[in-house]
Amino acid sequence: MTQQNTQQFGGNWTEEKLNIFTEYLTAYLTALQNQNFGKVYIDAFAGTGEIVTNDGEQHLVGSAKRALSSYLKFDRYYFIEENKKKAAELQRMVDAEYPHLADRVTIYCGDANARLSEIINQIDWRFNRGLLFLDPCATEVNWTTLTMIAETKSIDMWYLFPFSALNRMLTKDGNMDPTWAACIDRLLGDSGWRIEFYKKDPQISLFDFESGSGERDRLIKDANPERIKEYIIGRLQSTFPCVSKHPRIFKNKNNSPLFLFCFAISNDSEKAQGLALKIANHILKPKTNQGW
Ligand SMILES: C[S@@+](CC[C@H](N)C(=O)[O-])C[C@H]1O[C@@H](n2cnc3c(N)ncnc32)[C@H](O)[C@@H]1O
Repeated sequence: MTQQNTQQFGGNWTEEKLNIFTEYLTAYLTALQNQNFGKVYIDAFAGTGEIVTNDGEQHLVGSAKRALSSYLKFDRYYFIEENKKKAAELQRMVDAEYPHLADRVTIYCGDANARLSEIINQIDWRFNRGLLFLDPCATEVNWTTLTMIAETKSIDMWYLFPFSALNRMLTKDGNMDPTWAACIDRLLGDSGWRIEFYKKDPQISLFDFESGSGERDRLIKDANPERIKEYIIGRLQSTFPCVSKHPRIFKNKNNSPLFLFCFAISNDSEKAQGLALKIANHILKPKTNQGW
């Protein structure tokens, strides 16, 4: 491991996230091993393959290395990483530790949304099945990217949804920088959240009466974490035919929700959905209380 390029982030939940994903990956390859589909792995925020958590306490094996070291293999591995140094580190790791898989691996250095579009468009999804990991730092994934993934009808997706980034942008009175509003539109696919998460403020102050404003304009946020979670799952359900209703909630040390780990299937087949959802829900079932 080259210390200067090893990426830093996360806490205990980083390991939990990776364990959930790896467990699904193993079950996925096992379920597909005797089927005639090509098996494609896509890691759209791949990192370097190695992680040191922010508190410096944990060294973890990252998603890229976990996928490559699985006993059962994919036919193709696509990794996307925007940071040039990290992409180069990832390439060095593949060449040094997985030379036998090097001809199956393609590493793209660039934006996940743009590169995913390239990858998805070059694969004939009638003959291939894909497992995709969307593990962004924050709000990088565009809704249009999710639509494109759903349209393949062949990809199982794990998406680390940036819950706290969204919640922080949803200001108490609905007034926000236009770039935030545009970011939320891009993240959730449309502007339905404005109606869903805000209501007219029933408390009209004396000042509002006198100025004639108030009832007409004033909004207050009407969105607790549960409601935001339900909305996110509803949005995914509007695009994917099958979505787990039990995303894992990852929290920080102060017990505030940071991310939702969501699972969605793009395959239309009820048989494929039933098996994938059963496995995912079993893995997602919390070991401890998942209240807010
Ligand atoms: C949370 S880390 C992913 C960690 C990785 N899944 C692992 O287990 O090691 C997010 C990664 O995405 C990269 N990144 C950030 N924005 C990106 C973008 N728009 N497109 C692709 N990669 C991006 C970051 O450099 C970082 O390495």
